[in-house]
Amino acid sequence: MTTVPATHELEQFLTYIQQVFNDSSLQRLVLSKYVGSDTELERITIRPVKIKDESLLSFLYEYRTRHITKNHPITEAVALWQQWLGQDFKNAHLLSDAWEIQLSFSKKGKVLLNKHRNKNTTNNATDESLEHDNENDKKKPLAHDKQKPLAHDKKKHRFVEQSRPYLRELGITDNNGQIIPAMSRKWKQINKFIEVLSSAIDSTGIAHREEVHIADFGSGKAYLTFAVHDYLSAQLGVKTQVTGVELRQPLVDLCNQTASKLCLSGIQFEQGDVQHFAVRGINIMIALHACDTATDYAIHMGIRSGAEIIMCSPCCHKQIRPQLKSPSLLEPILHHGIHLGQEAEMVTDGLRALLLEANGYDTQVFEFISLEHTSKNKMILAQKRKIARDNSAILLQIKAIKEFYGITEHCLERLLKDNV
Ligand SMILES: C[S@@+](CC[C@H](N)C(=O)[O-])C[C@H]1O[C@@H](n2cnc3c(N)ncnc32)[C@H](O)[C@@H]1O
Repeated sequence: MTTVPATHELEQFLTYIQQVFNDSSLQRLVLSKYVGSDTELERITIRPVKIKDESLLSFLYEYRTRHITKNHPITEAVALWQQWLGQDFKNAHLLSDAWEIQLSFSKKGKVLLNKHRNKNTTNNATDESLEHDNENDKKKPLAHDKQKPLAHDKKKHRFVEQSRPYLRELGITDNNGQIIPAMSRKWKQINKFIEVLSSAIDSTGIAHREEVHIADFGSGKAYLTFAVHDYLSAQLGVKTQVTGVELRQPLVDLCNQTASKLCLSGIQFEQGDVQHFAVRGINIMIALHACDTATDYAIHMGIRSGAEIIMCSPCCHKQIRPQLKSPSLLEPILHHGIHLGQEAEMVTDGLRALLLEANGYDTQVFEFISLEHTSKNKMILAQKRKIARDNSAILLQIKAIKEFYGITEHCLERLLKDNV
């Protein structure tokens, strides 16, 4: 801890920030203890973002009743910090892969710069560079830390930060920001979901839109709804409108209360059946574990709304199973109920994927989280093609597969035909 003139400490702090921004080890910077003229502003959380290949800083202005995000290049950001720190904000907390650095301004005008190793991660390469630049700092990394092989030190990269407020509100983390053991599967599922979504967002370029609309059908307790809202608005800095649609009114009320408790704008929950959802512009359609044919209605709604990304993880495949007539060659295999169930699931989702392909989407079906975390682990991910393609061959394949299994009706196919 040091007490030297403000300009020196501030300059040193700004040097750290630029350094960790440049070496991509910046996790976040939080400006707090606001004493400026805006009575609503509480704090600003700043994170690195990449937009159109440009590295920027996303400033999340946290007001009492709403949040606003603005992105700035590093030079602009430094100018803002120079203007604010010590004046409007009396505290700044920087978290990088290697360091935790606190800059605070006391009422008597003293400036305190406090620097610790980040206990959650140790990245020796980053430690070295910071150590050389900070001559005043007495807290050098310990010798045994330096000898640790990097591979052992490497913390598993997560797409979602454990400290996000919605995780605590939804009961995933406790008051100390630690994952509640009983929720660790949900935590892994949320991370994997955001990981898959983030790569689809990258390849479609959705993050560059002025505003992104997302619908989550069968949102339930809304773990993923809040996660997707947080990822786009807070992490990517995109103006986002998320609507969760859920049959059960008590869950809708609970989720709306959670959103207002967290002072979030751009996220709301509606009671309703996905079947009766009024078509509106949607960029991303999500349906995780929406029961049986609710998945078909959700995919249909995604296609009709022109969604660029459709992500669903189907659950319970009741429609196709009673229709399956085992081809005689397969009879000795499919007369086992478990095999028939697996076959029904594969055919239902295989046809869904083909129908998406026929309707202008590049589609993948894959295991999105390992079976040890959930039995409902299949993901259908569809991304809208930019260039239309002849779909006649796919339609013939669908027809042939239906004939082979004796299937007379597939919900999604009927919805697309009726175009209701
Ligand atoms: C298994 S939960 C999954 C919740 C959430 N998507 C998740 O993955 O955590 C399925 C939810 O879908 C809702 N649901 C089922 N059919 C629906 C429909 N037709 N329209 C709207 N919601 C539906 C149920 O009430 C339930 O809350």
